[in-house]
Amino acid sequence: MSTFSRESDPNPLALEKEYRTRGIQFKEFLTREQTAKAAATHISEQIARNPQSNISFATGETMVSVYSELIHMGINASQVQAFHLDEYLGVNSQIDKESFARFVRSRVVEPLRIQQAFYLDGTANNPHDEAKRYELLLQRYPTDLVILGIGPGGHIAFNEAGTPFNLGVHVQQLSPETVQRDIDRGQPKREYALTQGPQNIIRARQIMVVLYGAQKGQILQDCFTGPISEQFPASILRSSEVAPRVTVFLDEFAGKKMRSI
Ligand code: GLP
Repeated sequence: MSTFSRESDPNPLALEKEYRTRGIQFKEFLTREQTAKAAATHISEQIARNPQSNISFATGETMVSVYSELIHMGINASQVQAFHLDEYLGVNSQIDKESFARFVRSRVVEPLRIQQAFYLDGTANNPHDEAKRYELLLQRYPTDLVILGIGPGGHIAFNEAGTPFNLGVHVQQLSPETVQRDIDRGQPKREYALTQGPQNIIRARQIMVVLYGAQKGQILQDCFTGPISEQFPASILRSSEVAPRVTVFLDEFAGKKMRSI
């Protein structure tokens, strides 16, 4: 299936390889840019099919180029219901730069002129009540598409290793690895978050994952080679009732790790 020539790339969206591993569809591209563009196209196709889609948007560096591609496509997304995956406890989306609600508002909702967006409130007095509120919203607006990145230890949203697979929206203690990653990125130390749980993610009609680079590829490989286990949160995507709804967009550096399993 590899028809792509690096020297004479006439098509910026050229797919390098498409394969199925552990029942999951993989779409692999040579560069991050191509991967991001293909991921954005996938989101835009969902919106074209159903302009009123309920979409849960991931945040993080991986998604910056995906959403900027999406915005440049000039689609009409005004009727989408936007959700997001997670938020640090104690952050105020009006003030704190690391807020994920702020990320989704400024990089997705406002530029796409989405009229209806539901945010997790990191400043809620009772975070457990806030989790319940968001859980009810997700039940009222069943997710058509959830967009995921992969974090340290194979976390999806903020579901760290050891998170029970049967959890919905909940308060999560972040792993030392995640806390350190954020500190290394120059963010204030945050040790707790509100997050959609594994159950919210796997209930989505469509699940997409985006990752670039060998390091993320290795994390995913670890989740896809061992047992399906709460110790490897992303491994839940392999379970037989979930895998057919999952598409992974990745660059060749991440792909090398996945093709070898
Ligand atoms: C973060 C978020 C995830 C995100 C992942 C990858 O901690 N909780 O929702 O998808 O980790 O982030 P990045 O793309 O910045 O590496």
